[in-house]
Amino acid sequence: MVNQKKISFDITVYDSLNELTKEDRNLMSAAVKARKRAYAPYSKFNVGASVLLENGEIIEGNNQENASYPSGLCAERVAVFYAGARYPGMHIKAIAITAASLNHEVNEPAAPCGNCRQAISEYEFRQGKPIKMLLMGETGSIIECKSLSDLLPLGFNSSFLD
Ligand code: THU
Repeated sequence: MVNQKKISFDITVYDSLNELTKEDRNLMSAAVKARKRAYAPYSKFNVGASVLLENGEIIEGNNQENASYPSGLCAERVAVFYAGARYPGMHIKAIAITAASLNHEVNEPAAPCGNCRQAISEYEFRQGKPIKMLLMGETGSIIECKSLSDLLPLGFNSSFLD
């Protein structure tokens, strides 16, 4: 018996930052500030990520590149790993991501890479509550996803190891 199934998910698209809630706007503005401090001399693609914790604190990260390219790390993982290091076990409510290039205008919402989706999914799975994702370029619309797992269907998690 063969079953065809469809996996789909809902997103909310905002035309401008003004349409976000105050909390989300504030989170995205922290990501923009972090983006401007990125260390990306090789790709010239600056990414900022901000993590809203359940205690209301915002942890910021940005991409940190390296002359030995694979040694660098994406903004999202810098931010969530620091959040995990600073506040072990603290739940994450939302993550905002923004990207800007020195070479062209990024006018589409920046999507987290596969490795970052997997890294964030570890925290979401562990806390058993969704992490809202807010994605933005430098200009243009903003995408909201209700849960990181929407961006990583059929993901791998620790339940497979039990
Ligand atoms: N980058 C991120 O920081 N986050 C992503 O999700 C995608 C890519 C960084 C890695 C590298 O420093 C630069 O963007 C170009 O790939």
